[in-house]
Amino acid sequence: MTRLVARIREIVHTLRSVLRFEPMELDSVARRLRRAASVADLRRIAKRRLPRGVFDYIDGGAEDERTLVENTRGFARLTFRPRVLRDVSVVDMRTTILGKEAPLPLALSPTGFNRIADPAGEIAVARAAERARLPYSLSTLGTRSIEEIAAVNAGRKWFQVYVWNDRGLVKEMITRAEEAGFEALILTVDTAVQGRRERDVRHGFTLPPKLGLDTLLDGMLHPRWTWDFVRAEPIRFANVVGRGVSDGTEAVELAEVMNNQFDSSVRWEDVDWLRSVWDGPLVIKGVQTVDDAVIAAESGIDAVALSNHGGRQLDSAPAPIDLVAPVTDAVGDGIEVYCDGGVRRGSDIVKAIALGAQACMIGRAYLYGLGAAGERGVDHVLAMLDADVRRTMALLGVRTISDLSRECLA
Ligand code: FNR
Repeated sequence: MTRLVARIREIVHTLRSVLRFEPMELDSVARRLRRAASVADLRRIAKRRLPRGVFDYIDGGAEDERTLVENTRGFARLTFRPRVLRDVSVVDMRTTILGKEAPLPLALSPTGFNRIADPAGEIAVARAAERARLPYSLSTLGTRSIEEIAAVNAGRKWFQVYVWNDRGLVKEMITRAEEAGFEALILTVDTAVQGRRERDVRHGFTLPPKLGLDTLLDGMLHPRWTWDFVRAEPIRFANVVGRGVSDGTEAVELAEVMNNQFDSSVRWEDVDWLRSVWDGPLVIKGVQTVDDAVIAAESGIDAVALSNHGGRQLDSAPAPIDLVAPVTDAVGDGIEVYCDGGVRRGSDIVKAIALGAQACMIGRAYLYGLGAAGERGVDHVLAMLDADVRRTMALLGVRTISDLSRECLA
C-alpha cells in the first residue's frame, strides 16, 4: 500500500513538472482572439458568428469570383530570395504615405455598411486605425457619419467618394470632410455600374438586412448577432440621411442604390471638377491598367490605388499585385502607387513594397476581424500584420523599407 501511495506521489510530481496549467481566461473575446493566429482564422470565426447573407456580402465577389481568387493567388505565386547573416536585430518599418510618416506601409480601405458586421461599425475600425497610427478611409456608403468618425479619430482620415448624379450632394460631403479634418479624398472609379455579386442575388441581400422568414431562421442560428441588430439604432447610410437618396431608412438592394445614384457618364474631366472643390491630396482608387495609371500621373493626382474593388466589380480583372511592377515602372516617382486587394498577411505587404508600391490597403482583412470580435478583432488584425511585416523583413535579411527591392523576390 505504501509503495502504491509512493508511486502515485511520484507520478503526480512528474506530471507537475511537465504540465503547466493555463490560467482560465474569463474574457470570452480574449479567449476567441488568442486562438486566431491569422486573418484566415478570423474569417472562419466571422463566418460562424455572422448570418450567412451578411458574411457572404463581405466575403463574396463578382460572378465566378475569379478575380477575388486571383487577388490572393497573385501574392501566393511570388516567392522570396532571403539573404542570411545580415544584422537584423533592429528592423525599421517606417515609411511615408502621402508625404507623412506612417509606422507601416499600410492604410485601411473604405468599406460600406460596417454596422452589419458589428454594432459600432466604422467607429470601431476608425478607433483601431488611430491606435495603430494608420490612415483610415471612410466610405460614402458608411453607416457612421463623417462627423461621428472625426469625433473618435484624431489621426489620419481619408474620405472616399463616388461621383454621384447629385454633384451638389457630393460637394456637400466633401466640404463636411474638409471641416472635420479629413486629410485626403479617395475617388473610387471602378464602379461605373455595379458588379454582379451573385451570392447577394441568391440571398436577396438588402441593406439594412430585411427580417424575412429566411433571415429570421438565420437569425435564430446567430442569436448574438440578431440580439445586437434588433437592439441597435436602425442602420443607415449615415452620410446621406434625409437627402432623398436611399439613405437606409428602407431596406434596399445595393444594386438599386448604385443604379439610382451612380453616374455612369463620369470621365477624366470630372476629376478636374473634384480638384476644383478639394484642395488636399487626391487618390484615385480602382486603376487597373498601366495606361490609366499614366493618365492619372499626368493629371496631377497624388496617388493611385491599384484595385478591382476586392474582386467585387469586373470579374477577370487583373490582380492588383500583378500590376505593381509595370505601373511603378511606367509612372516612376511622380505618383504614389498603392496595392489594394488580396492582402491577408504581412508578407503580402512586403512583396508589394518590394515590387515598387508605396503602401498596401486592406478591406476584408479588417472586416473579418470586426465580424469575429468587434473593435478588438480589428486591433488584432492590425497587430498581426505589423508583427508579420517585421518578422518577414528580418527573415529576408532586410532592415528598412527602402532596402526592399525586386532583389528580395525570386
Ligand atoms: C468594399 N470596397 C469598397 N470600396 C469603396 O471604394 N467604397 C466602398 O463603399 C466599398 N465597400 C466595400 C464593402 C465591402 C464589404 C468590401 C469587402 C469591399 C472595396 C475596398 O475598398 C477594397 O478595395 C477591397 O476590399 C480590397 O480587397 P480586399 O482587401 O478585401 O481583398
